[in-house]
Amino acid sequence: MRSSLSLFLLSASCFSAAAALGGLPSKIYGVNLGSWLVLESWMLPQEWLDMGGQQCADCSTCIATEFAFAQAYPDTVDKIFDGHWNSWFNQPDVDALVHAGINTVRIPLGYWIVEALVNRTTEFYPRGGLAQLRRGLQQLHKAGIVAILDHHALPGVQTAGQMFTGRCTSDVEFYTEFNYHRALIWTAVMTTLSHVDPDFAAAVSIEAVNEPIMNADQTPGYGDFQMNFVKVVRATEFLLGVPTPGFGAMPAPADGNFTAMLPHVSDDNIFNAEVRSVLIETVPILLQLEIKGLSLRKEPLVTTFSDVNWQFNNPPNPAAAAIGSQLYDNHLYYSFGGVADANPDAYMTSICNLNRVQNDAAVGNSPLVFGEWGLPTQFNATDEFLNMWADAQKLAYSQGAGWMFWNFKVEKSELAGNLSRQWSYLEGIELGYFLKDPTQVHDPHVCDPYVINSTTTA
Ligand SMILES: *[C@@H]1O[C@H](CO)[C@@H](O)[C@H](O)[C@H]1NC(C)=O
Ligand SMILES: *[C@@H]1O[C@H](CO)[C@@H](O)[C@H](O)[C@H]1NC(C)=O
Ligand SMILES: *[C@@H]1O[C@H](CO)[C@@H](O)[C@H](O)[C@H]1NC(C)=O
Ligand SMILES: *[C@@H]1O[C@H](CO)[C@@H](O)[C@H](O)[C@H]1NC(C)=O
Ligand SMILES: *[C@@H]1O[C@H](CO)[C@@H](O)[C@H](O)[C@H]1NC(C)=O
Repeated sequence: MRSSLSLFLLSASCFSAAAALGGLPSKIYGVNLGSWLVLESWMLPQEWLDMGGQQCADCSTCIATEFAFAQAYPDTVDKIFDGHWNSWFNQPDVDALVHAGINTVRIPLGYWIVEALVNRTTEFYPRGGLAQLRRGLQQLHKAGIVAILDHHALPGVQTAGQMFTGRCTSDVEFYTEFNYHRALIWTAVMTTLSHVDPDFAAAVSIEAVNEPIMNADQTPGYGDFQMNFVKVVRATEFLLGVPTPGFGAMPAPADGNFTAMLPHVSDDNIFNAEVRSVLIETVPILLQLEIKGLSLRKEPLVTTFSDVNWQFNNPPNPAAAAIGSQLYDNHLYYSFGGVADANPDAYMTSICNLNRVQNDAAVGNSPLVFGEWGLPTQFNATDEFLNMWADAQKLAYSQGAGWMFWNFKVEKSELAGNLSRQWSYLEGIELGYFLKDPTQVHDPHVCDPYVINSTTTA
């Protein structure tokens, strides 16, 4: 594999922005389906209270997450969440996304959607999400929108004090052999479903881990996990008869029985002991899932990682893990501080001189998508500024593989106040910050006064 891997890295660095990557569009104009299958209560404060949740300043101290909710309401949690899943994202939302020209969605998912991975004595999450995911993916596929399955909330929790991990806690346990292993089983299940379950036709990519801890000193083993993540995807595909080019010929009939096929596989690099053990443990889980068909097979999935620059202190480079098509994901929010001074001119100067696409390409992290961004600001933004701010961000992110806004919508209610103005893509269209055609901006020259002229001519 070594020679084909380095060949890929070579071709990745010459990547032309016009070439499509796997089943993804050549330019991603996307939104996140946040708070659907991983609920973040800050995005729907009134509905959350109506469901029986609570609001508090420190989300670890009240019923602010799925985990706390499921622990508090063990008998009714599944039914209450099913109601949320049905109402938060359904056909009218798909229609609105089609109308808005959206071609890709990123779907945040918890490990608990593969229910066999949950230890119910210590871990509490709603059940029934997979049926909803199937329903949503079917609707998206009919609408011609492709999906990135984003492992957003990892077993053991990947970062402290966040609602988006499903459990708000300082007890971060993801970076352990046990939880890496569970995440890999999740990956093998999702890879299989993506290739054999007709309901999963829209799924073209899996993202390994949403927003790992930024300090790489605190994520031991994460580089090996990245390698095994790609190997699990490619090994699963190989056994399903969807080999990545350069992988070699199928040694056994592609009947999907990993247990029967593994002894015939001799590549100990891809099929290392951990990958084999993951595949063997995946089989009984798949058998429980009542997959409706075994007919669907499409081109290999795109593996997606948070880019290397998401972390500091000598992080592992996910480019080293690539076998076949791979996408890199950067997230950029100005409202949390640390990016630019809290005023409109500083924001514009920063975004108009952003060099993340180029810097990432220099270390093999290309193509780069901006998988989360928004309009929120640390100051009260005028409508005029938000028009410019939307334009400038879209122009900056389109230099790479494109963008996915956070979020497709948030709640509109008295309690939510102005939340939707800067966090909702669909509301942003209503308010005129986004044009109806996502490929267009109000002013393609919005950055001209802010570009620092000395460095480049391009
Ligand atoms: C579930 O967690 C409990 C408590 O840590 C442990 O004793 C038990 O062995 C676990 N069960 C499984 C099936 O792993
Ligand atoms: C898969 O293969 C193993 C080993 O040959 C066999 O024991 C098992 O019954 C097979 N499973 C199915 C579902 O066919
Ligand atoms: C923004 O406006 C609100 C309401 O008018 C006000 O309470 C708040 O202090 C303002 N924030 C800033 C940073 O100016
Ligand atoms: C909400 O947004 C409007 C402009 O759309 C603004 O007039 C108002 O002050 C904002 N309220 C708060 C609390 O920021
Ligand atoms: C860069 O050059 C353009 C065109 O000459 C000019 O309008 C703009 O003000 C300059 N930008 C800066 C930051 O000096």
